[in-house]
Amino acid sequence: MPLARVATGIQGLDEMTAGGFVERSANLVEGAPGTGKTTLGLQFLMEGIENRAEAGLYLSFEEFPAQLYADAAKLGWDLRKYESEGRLRIVFTDPLSLLADLETVDGPMERLIEEFCIKRVVIDSLSHFEFISDDVFQLRDMEFRLVSALKREGCTSVLLRENANLMGETNSLSRSPFVVDSFLILRYVELESAVSKAILVLKMRGSAHHTDIRRYTIQKGGIKIESKFLGQEGILGGSPRKSRAQAFVEAFGGRRK
Ligand SMILES: Nc1ncnc2c1ncn2[C@@H]1O[C@H](COP(=O)(O)OP(=O)(O)O)[C@@H](O)[C@H]1O
Ligand SMILES: [Mg+2]
Repeated sequence: MPLARVATGIQGLDEMTAGGFVERSANLVEGAPGTGKTTLGLQFLMEGIENRAEAGLYLSFEEFPAQLYADAAKLGWDLRKYESEGRLRIVFTDPLSLLADLETVDGPMERLIEEFCIKRVVIDSLSHFEFISDDVFQLRDMEFRLVSALKREGCTSVLLRENANLMGETNSLSRSPFVVDSFLILRYVELESAVSKAILVLKMRGSAHHTDIRRYTIQKGGIKIESKFLGQEGILGGSPRKSRAQAFVEAFGGRRK
């Protein structure tokens, strides 16, 4: 039987993931500041709230609640309205309190998730766990417990993680992806003297997914996935070169014999 899917509401991403995230899965989204992680997280919740009658929970470790509401308003989403209708919960907390709450049987998180029938959860961001400990084993343990607790509650989650490298190599491929079910990367890419953004589904456990690297923009309504990067090598490294085949076509206007 095919795995049940939870549509992200981002059209091109739902195509890239063959229908969206797997139900009850944990999905890591990594990108540099400003690449659109918060936007993607909110859009995932908005899809549930606006189109599928699924309530959402946004867990933030950021210190400035007002910023989230302002950012959402710029994208066209009135978070306070959805909160007042009981379709969205936004909780500002810290990583250790969240873990403790989630792991308490009949604790505050379990009650909240049950009371509001929450199906979609966003955590902004996983990077804050790294402020607590730099011990890799302890971090893995906390991430594993977090992911397990969310699955136990029946939620499909999006875990955001900051990558300090704006253009360079992703430096954390070795950490956490193994506790999550899918891993998406958002990148800045410099191409022909302009910076654009690229999205890639790097892994998706147990299902087929596209390995295309796609361009995207952010606008009112959220992330819009656009064309593939055609004939470009080195996109992930941040400094793409035209592939030899592409350069040939451009130089000679035809196919190599
Ligand atoms: N309505 C909009 N039109 C164009 N750009 C927008 C709009 N709303 C937000 N942005 C831009 O989208 C970018 C992504 O923001 P955000 O999702 O907060 O990124 P991250 O969480 O990865 O730091 C920001 O640079 C922001 O200025
Ligand atoms: Mg953010």
